[in-house]
Amino acid sequence: MLGSILLAVSRSPLARRAVSGFPVTRHVVDRFVAGEDAGDALSAVQRLTDARLSVTLDHLGEETKDTRAAAETVKAYATVLDALRPLGLGGRAEVSVKLSAVGQALDHSLALDHAREICAAAREAGTTVTLDMEDHTTVDSTLSILRTLREDFPSTGVAIQAYLFRSEADLRDLSYEGSRVRLVKGAYAEPASVAHQSKIEVDKAYVRCLRILMEGKGYPMVATHDDRLISITELLADRNGRERDGFEYQMLYGIRTDKQEALARAGSSVRVYVPYGDDWYGYFMRRLAERPANVAFFLRSLRSK
Ligand code: FDA
Repeated sequence: MLGSILLAVSRSPLARRAVSGFPVTRHVVDRFVAGEDAGDALSAVQRLTDARLSVTLDHLGEETKDTRAAAETVKAYATVLDALRPLGLGGRAEVSVKLSAVGQALDHSLALDHAREICAAAREAGTTVTLDMEDHTTVDSTLSILRTLREDFPSTGVAIQAYLFRSEADLRDLSYEGSRVRLVKGAYAEPASVAHQSKIEVDKAYVRCLRILMEGKGYPMVATHDDRLISITELLADRNGRERDGFEYQMLYGIRTDKQEALARAGSSVRVYVPYGDDWYGYFMRRLAERPANVAFFLRSLRSK
């Protein structure tokens, strides 16, 4: 219930102004966001890769209807990718892109051109791009952009959301050699006509999707902090003869860092999704919606100031 309210609030411009206006909010946001600029992002990359973790950098921002802002986002990715190049980390430091931040809501082909520019910059830096998945109205457009991008940039990956009814079919289509798919539960408020609503149904759907991914020929990126799903991944990897480098775990910056490090120490590939930038509102509210305890933490911080 609280989660649905927070997800609704995450799209309200009025609430955005109110929440962003609290002076202490930044302090709380810092738990989930690596900093405001490319320099902060690179410090996080250094810290995490030193701890044997891989990263995917997300320049925060979404749902823009402003062509200038979309072009600025492309520039921000080019800047961070350029700065990554001399570090020589290759695919250990890739980027994640929300197509709505590069113009998807304005024009499908503008978003494609922008995504292509980011993929070209990633290739120059010796790495690649994964497309985040946003609300269900964008899935067809995102998968179509993915198909086109992969003609020139075959390592481009995509996130698929287990809560959507359509996702098992999408995963079968994506289970070919060379495909890179990040499986997530799904973080948006979706109607019952397109998505499972209860946690138990979403978890069951995740397992069905995971089975398709692990049995397929692509590279599974298992993005969850859920211990039960991590155990099931281990079983499915064994059953399908996948070595440690045949799949990876992905978790969010600031969430279950002990688990991230423990998995990496045990020999698993683990990638941390590192958001940075000042447009943190939508991302932050989705993190609050996932866990009521985060809301309590936020409210406590407000009270203690
Ligand atoms: P679940 O929410 O059941 O959490 C399991 C446990 O993890 C909790 O009990 C708690 O211990 C911990 N946990 C989870 N969320 C937490 C939080 N916010 N704060 C503190 N602890 C928390 N979604 C999407 O729609 N499109 C996308 O492109 C992506 N991309 C993406 C990349 C990566 C690397 C990850 C890990 C996740 C995403 N997501 C996403 C978000 C995803 O859909 C989902 O909302 C979150 O991962 C939470 O789901 P869990 O699988 O972790 O399970």
